[in-house]
Amino acid sequence: MIVAGKHFRTIWMEGSSIFMIDQNALPFEFRIHEARTYLETCTAIKNMTTRGAGAIGAAAGFAMAQAFIESGGNQGFVEIARSETEATRPTARNLFYAVEKVFDAGMFAAENAVIEAQRLADENVNDALRISEFGNTLIKSGSRILTHCNAGWLGFVDWGSALAPIYRAHREGKKVFVYADETRPRSQGARLTAWELSNENIPHVIVPDNAGAYLMSKGMVDVVIVGADRIAANGDTANKIGTFEKAIIAKEFGIPFYVAAPSSTFDFSLSDGGAIPIEERSPDEILYQSGPDESGLNHRIRVANHTSSALNPAFDVTPAEYITAFITEKGITSASGGKFSF
Ligand code: MRU
Repeated sequence: MIVAGKHFRTIWMEGSSIFMIDQNALPFEFRIHEARTYLETCTAIKNMTTRGAGAIGAAAGFAMAQAFIESGGNQGFVEIARSETEATRPTARNLFYAVEKVFDAGMFAAENAVIEAQRLADENVNDALRISEFGNTLIKSGSRILTHCNAGWLGFVDWGSALAPIYRAHREGKKVFVYADETRPRSQGARLTAWELSNENIPHVIVPDNAGAYLMSKGMVDVVIVGADRIAANGDTANKIGTFEKAIIAKEFGIPFYVAAPSSTFDFSLSDGGAIPIEERSPDEILYQSGPDESGLNHRIRVANHTSSALNPAFDVTPAEYITAFITEKGITSASGGKFSF
């Protein structure tokens, strides 16, 4: 992504440090966070300094590479690091995919772990580029596209999944308009997707999470494109909470609903979405909101009844029957007959 004329990846490794765009600071401040140890990288995944399935995958691969560097050849240290990295966030398949690949590579030599983590980051970019090309063929000039959460540059190492086809279409001169669901409670749509779209000069508006039925019933949406955190063998798809209801509404109004994701998001060990682990996050994310006032001073304020708690499941699972097709780096395909094939 180009920010103020300079190209940035969302996350990268230099020496034994991991550098990442601080997604908790956006859109108010663009700053780079440095994680010097694998434990600091794990903390950055947990507290969502870096987030989104693709970026989490890259971060987890880098964390394992750091662990091999720090281990001094101590196998027990690396195994503990693996468990700790895998315990950071449970839902995105990309995290477990990267940990396994880097762990296996590092068994031969610590340098191989670093090479493998860097290779996975490059693979992440190349997959997103292919997704942008295949997805672009589904976008007509004049399309009004609804998306949920953030599956753009920031959710991957570069380009993104759901937003990548939109960036490609826009760069080719097609007219596109995006509805960005605000995506409560952490507002990845209102903060991150809207920031990315502004950065790319793509016309868009932020809409409340509960506006989907209104917009689709009024004929204001031509297509829905979302990303994914984990896709089971039958095509059932876990993505940010609220995705499933958008899929139901899209089906009701005959609007195509596409899921964009690389093969590293597919988990063929799970026959259906029922076994996908769903992360539950702190009730505080619902009960409080934070952001800067006009002078830039950050505040955290309570936005809910003082004596109530909250339930905060971070993902839901959309059954395959609601998904028109998957946009992957290998092409566009469906999960027809309850079985997925590339
Ligand atoms: O909790 P997050 O912000 O990591 O959740 C991200 C999403 O649900 C994205 O839609 C998903 O990872 C798609 S690809 C970046």
